[in-house]
Amino acid sequence: MNKPDLCIAKDRKKVAIQYINLDLDIKPVFKGKKYFLRTYGCQMNVHDSEEIRYYLEQLGYSYSDTLEDADIVVLNTCAIRENAKDKVFGYLGRCKHLKKIKKDLIICLCGCLTQQPSEIDEIIKNHQYIDVIIGTHNLSQLPKLITDTYDKKQKIEVFSNSDKVFENVKYSRDSKISAWINIIYGCDKFCTYCIVPFTRGRERSRKMEEILKEVRKLKEQGYMEITLLGQNVNAYGKDLNLGYDFATLLEEVAKIGIPRIRFVTSHPWNFTDKMIDIIAKYDNIMPYIHLPIQSGSDEILKRMNRKYTIEEYKKLFDTIKEKIPNVSITTDIIVGFPNETEEDFQKTLDIVNYCKFDGAFTFIFSPRVGTAAALMEDKVTMVEKEKRLHTLNELVNRYSLDSNKKYLNKEVEVLVTGPSEKGCDKVCGYTDTMKLVNIEGSQNLIGKIIKVKITDVKSFSLDGIALIYQK
Ligand code: SAH
Ligand code: SF4
Ligand code: F3S
Repeated sequence: MNKPDLCIAKDRKKVAIQYINLDLDIKPVFKGKKYFLRTYGCQMNVHDSEEIRYYLEQLGYSYSDTLEDADIVVLNTCAIRENAKDKVFGYLGRCKHLKKIKKDLIICLCGCLTQQPSEIDEIIKNHQYIDVIIGTHNLSQLPKLITDTYDKKQKIEVFSNSDKVFENVKYSRDSKISAWINIIYGCDKFCTYCIVPFTRGRERSRKMEEILKEVRKLKEQGYMEITLLGQNVNAYGKDLNLGYDFATLLEEVAKIGIPRIRFVTSHPWNFTDKMIDIIAKYDNIMPYIHLPIQSGSDEILKRMNRKYTIEEYKKLFDTIKEKIPNVSITTDIIVGFPNETEEDFQKTLDIVNYCKFDGAFTFIFSPRVGTAAALMEDKVTMVEKEKRLHTLNELVNRYSLDSNKKYLNKEVEVLVTGPSEKGCDKVCGYTDTMKLVNIEGSQNLIGKIIKVKITDVKSFSLDGIALIYQK
């Protein structure tokens, strides 16, 4: 059994990054068997699951949407908040029960939960029935670990940090229209509430030519949209020291000519004017920016280690609004950070009133063992935190609705991504500002950018009818 190596991530050493070209020979030894895969957490995990699915399919497995029919269960976990963890343990309970009946069932735990120092020992100790436990740094080991499970010994591949960037990674992508592309792994920011730097390791950028190669290939395959992924995309390139940064990359990607390009997530710190100018210059870079603010109080931002003040955020926000016409800006906000006062919370409401965000993801602070904020004194009760969340949500939803109202009776371009949940004569898609639109129109519009007239607006979506078919 390999011992997990989870030292304190903050002590991690900066060593030279190894760039490894993957060349895996995976035999379909499980042909005829079925896999069940569940993914929790952010886009990073969603994209990792596309890699996992490629490996499962190469091993010969086919898809099953029911746990009971599966020969292998793979749970790709998230550790960002307590509820993400609870969901996984719920599934694990079902898997344990199933394995009593189905002795050959393979259970595999991946993702950020396995990388959380406070969790891994407990998982190993109390969940011996899990066959494979694999972290976020070495997914390409998965086919080998699964193939080796015949000896019935638990396999563990988890370590605290990574000095590797893998290239030539293959994916079984969820969509033929819209694709994710990793540009930078890990995070060096250490916001005091956040577990991600511990679960994803230090910042490691992919080389620009490798990213561009992947973008060109996706263009050849007919992809209409790509999303550049990183915990903090504007840190891109810093670790490489090759004279290029995120703005350079964005421009080179835009020139390749995929109709829609977006990126998540940008940290307000280090969001450069050059980035704003490039976004404004290219029509195919979507005027959509997710710019997490987290709190409206300088005191809280300082204790969060967010590295910007509200004045700086406002200045950046105003410049983006001024330079990028019709830009849509969304955000993340945490309420109930340790000892957040009523006054601090009021400042959060004030900044929401100032920015009038197009949308916001709001969360109650969840202490993560191993992070600095988990050790901070906190006198705010859960009842109070829930009350604040409720007040904030009401405000945020009002502004979402207001920003959607601007679209009423307008003609917009929509990339149609799939059937709509609102009826079989409808499809759905997104504007270039990432507004969800349910459209009256036929299924053969899927994968196309079409003109739509907006006929009704709600807080979280727009309704419209398809006009002329455009591209
Ligand atoms: N890298 C991104 C966000 C990653 S996590 C960024 O820096 O913006 C997504 C969101 O989860 C964060 O923006 C934050 O609002 C929220 N979050 C992270 N840790 C949290 C915690 N411990 N409790 C509550 N919310 C948290
Ligand atoms: Fe977490 Fe902060 Fe890094 Fe985002 S920038 S992943 S919130 S530590
Ligand atoms: Fe969760 Fe890991 Fe993403 S903790 S939010 S899956 S980076």
